[in-house]
Amino acid sequence: MMEDFYTLGIETSCDETAVAVLHGQTDLKVNLVYSQAKIHSRYGGVVPEVASRDHLRKLPYLVKEALEGARIGFSDLKLVAATFGPGLVGPLLVGLSYGKGIAFGRGIPFIGVNHLEGHLFAHRLAYPDDPPPFMGLLVSGGHTALIKVVDYGSYQLVGTTIDDAAGEALDKVGKMLGIDYPAGAEIDRLAAEGDPSAIDFPRPLISSPGFDFSFAGLKTSVLYYLRKHPSADPRDVSASFLASVVDVLAGKAIEATRRHHLRKLVVVGGVAANRHLRARLAEDGKARGIGVFFPPVRYCTDNAAMIAACGAFRHLTLGESSPLSLTASPSLSI
Ligand code: KG4
Ligand code: ZN
Repeated sequence: MMEDFYTLGIETSCDETAVAVLHGQTDLKVNLVYSQAKIHSRYGGVVPEVASRDHLRKLPYLVKEALEGARIGFSDLKLVAATFGPGLVGPLLVGLSYGKGIAFGRGIPFIGVNHLEGHLFAHRLAYPDDPPPFMGLLVSGGHTALIKVVDYGSYQLVGTTIDDAAGEALDKVGKMLGIDYPAGAEIDRLAAEGDPSAIDFPRPLISSPGFDFSFAGLKTSVLYYLRKHPSADPRDVSASFLASVVDVLAGKAIEATRRHHLRKLVVVGGVAANRHLRARLAEDGKARGIGVFFPPVRYCTDNAAMIAACGAFRHLTLGESSPLSLTASPSLSI
């Protein structure tokens, strides 16, 4: 029975149109991600209405391609899982409505997935035999959060950003430096050639007692620095700015893991691709006896495999499904 269980996953919460086919709970058959980044880069950020229309344009082709890639037809699907929040309302509605339509048409169950919970399932896909508990650090363009994963399906929000997400700050500083959106990877590259101690940027909330983050002030410090020093070397600015972001993320994540008596830290989201953050966390984890896990980048950045994995778990293990009246929830929390 379980061998024949195919889930179609759909993710359209921001600017990636993603479709996946999952077999059982962790056997990934197809993981397609079409990024709209090029379309939005000329505007310096995601334009919601443009994103919605492009999701609608692309989705039917991706679903067809995904089923072909998995060598199955619509009639083999047993479940449809689609992101219903958080994210941009228009883009969310496109994937959600499309997913509900397929489920209704085929007479199979539908499940709406919380995108934040979905990100945590990158770990389950990458390491199916390494169960929770663990501390999750979710760092992406839209989110920065520390989530205690007691078990899959059982979470505790430990800390979150009170303003900008880490990736958002990277993208905005990138814009100041004339780098195309999204700028994280290019800042990563520039920083490797710069001096991280060239400029002493603040480490926001680093010694505050809780586990919340704040990156808006840091971003403004970079803006003022660049106004005062218009010919500053972008490599030094990138390295110094990134050093601050990494100090804060690594410091809080390790401390939160320790404070909650956990032995494992799992880092997910697009910023988890950052080489400086990876190196630092690996080092700090080793020193503190904490195992630090970085699922492969294809599961960390926005994708539908994690949505399918989360949906299949909630349906098969927890026995859940969603009514077709489920609507988009742009500011959904965990
Ligand atoms: O998870 P993701 O693909 O989408 C969101 O849910 O936001 O994350 C995208 C973010 C962007 O802000 C991008 O600049 C950042 O991840 N990013 C990086 C790197 N690669 C992508 N940030 C730092 N270093 C990188 N190598
Ligand atoms: Zn995401």
